[in-house]
Amino acid sequence: MSLRLPIAAGNWKMNLDRASASELVRGLRQGLAPRGAVEVLVFPSFPLLGEVGAELVSSPIGLGGQDLHPEESGAHTGDVSAGQLADVGCGWVLVGHSERRHDHQEGDDLVASKVVAAARGGLVPILCLGETLEERRSDRTLEVIDRQLTAVAAVAPDEMVVAYEPVWAIGTGETASPEEAQVVHRFLRRRSAELWGEARAEALRILYGGSVKPDNAPDLIREIDIDGFLVGGASLDAEKFLAIIHACGESAA
Ligand code: 13P
Repeated sequence: MSLRLPIAAGNWKMNLDRASASELVRGLRQGLAPRGAVEVLVFPSFPLLGEVGAELVSSPIGLGGQDLHPEESGAHTGDVSAGQLADVGCGWVLVGHSERRHDHQEGDDLVASKVVAAARGGLVPILCLGETLEERRSDRTLEVIDRQLTAVAAVAPDEMVVAYEPVWAIGTGETASPEEAQVVHRFLRRRSAELWGEARAEALRILYGGSVKPDNAPDLIREIDIDGFLVGGASLDAEKFLAIIHACGESAA
């Protein structure tokens, strides 16, 4: 059991519209204790942020953006800034999600500059990292994770969260086993201690993501270095997401 407050974060990706997002939020609010033992966050797509943000006022659920631009403002069509996210109620932002790295060719340097922008704008970055199937098969998992973490070594704010999401487990129904995930989480904590010192590494929350479901969450969260989840598909269903949130809460109890 860890002393770190677990996080259950729902990454809604490019799903939902205003009506279905509102319904989901209502379902979550009904099923959540006013101040539970879990930090619950949702990451709607940009057009939904304002409305979802308004519905979350005076709720225990936090709001985040799925991405941001490194600059504060200016001629960057299609992008959003940290300030704009904060303005609609976001306190968090995903950075370096594998779908951004893949769909938009985002490299480690860009990801690092987004971490800087998030912190400058008062948002907590959730740094996403993870290996592809090919990298795992060629036994390069820890090398890739190390590279992605070290890329933010010089710029990471104290308040940062890391999400390990093996690319091969995202949306595939395949999950890393608790033991496989724990090996990477342990490695991340050890490397964090080397980069930022023991105290910060001990406090760092490291989430697992990749086909997390109500039936695999309890076993995963039992691992000592797994401090919560970044959930895609299952976070679109209030009942499933609540079951995952409660699994996190039980581990913290
Ligand atoms: P799934 O839970 O749908 O596999 O998605 C994981 C993810 O990418 C969360 O950011």
